[in-house]
Amino acid sequence: MSRKSLLAALAAALMVAASSCVNAPEVSTEQIVLDNIFSRKSVRSFTDEPVTPQQIETLLRAGMAAPSGSNIQPWSFVVLQDKDRYLEIFSENNFNQRVFAQSAAIIVVCSDTTVVRAPRNDPQGTPVKMVNGTWRDDAGAVTENILLAVEAMGLGAVWTACYPYHDRMDPVKSSLGLPAEVVPYSVVALGHPAGDDQPKDKWKPEKVHYGKW
Ligand SMILES: Cc1cc2nc3c(=O)[nH]c(=O)nc-3n(C[C@H](O)[C@H](O)[C@H](O)COP(=O)(O)O)c2cc1C
Repeated sequence: MSRKSLLAALAAALMVAASSCVNAPEVSTEQIVLDNIFSRKSVRSFTDEPVTPQQIETLLRAGMAAPSGSNIQPWSFVVLQDKDRYLEIFSENNFNQRVFAQSAAIIVVCSDTTVVRAPRNDPQGTPVKMVNGTWRDDAGAVTENILLAVEAMGLGAVWTACYPYHDRMDPVKSSLGLPAEVVPYSVVALGHPAGDDQPKDKWKPEKVHYGKW
């Protein structure tokens, strides 16, 4: 092939490559975020593949990005990756042993039921310890954030209730050594999905009331 025709072929190849880039469908951030929300589903079966420390940290960062009442951020986390240990901890508490036996890691989302701050009616007053009225809501937002991040990262997880069941909370609390005012709210079992779990379509327009019930 002559030098001239080689250059022409190269130019044509570059043009094809460039045009395919131009024609690649653009996916908006809105679509990506909505797809992630609509794709999330509970996953209860996992492969043997471990999750990395980076993946765990990303999930915790996502959790801590949640909103919280008065921005108190009452959450704390206990990450468990030693399966023998967590199967022992969760063995007698009505938790789903089959799911936990397969999971690569467990994140226990904890929430502090108290807050130390100045009284509402005296913002300049001495801070005192009081009940944090939104600790449950905050922990729920954290848990959902983790589940959405799990979905975005190609992992799978299930939200397992701990609060408000005392037969679950009490043994978990003592096994993990939580302070008296801290509640183990949810237990997120996660790993690489083994099955083909699909999201459920939950859209029910009859549940929506505009203006008045
Ligand atoms: C507060 C709460 C507690 C839950 N507790 C459990 C549980 O103890 N065990 C379990 O297998 N799934 C549990 N789930 C997961 C639900 O069963 C699941 O979200 C529901 O069936 C809807 O399915 P989806 O997550 O795939 O949309 C819980 C979910 C929530 C929000």
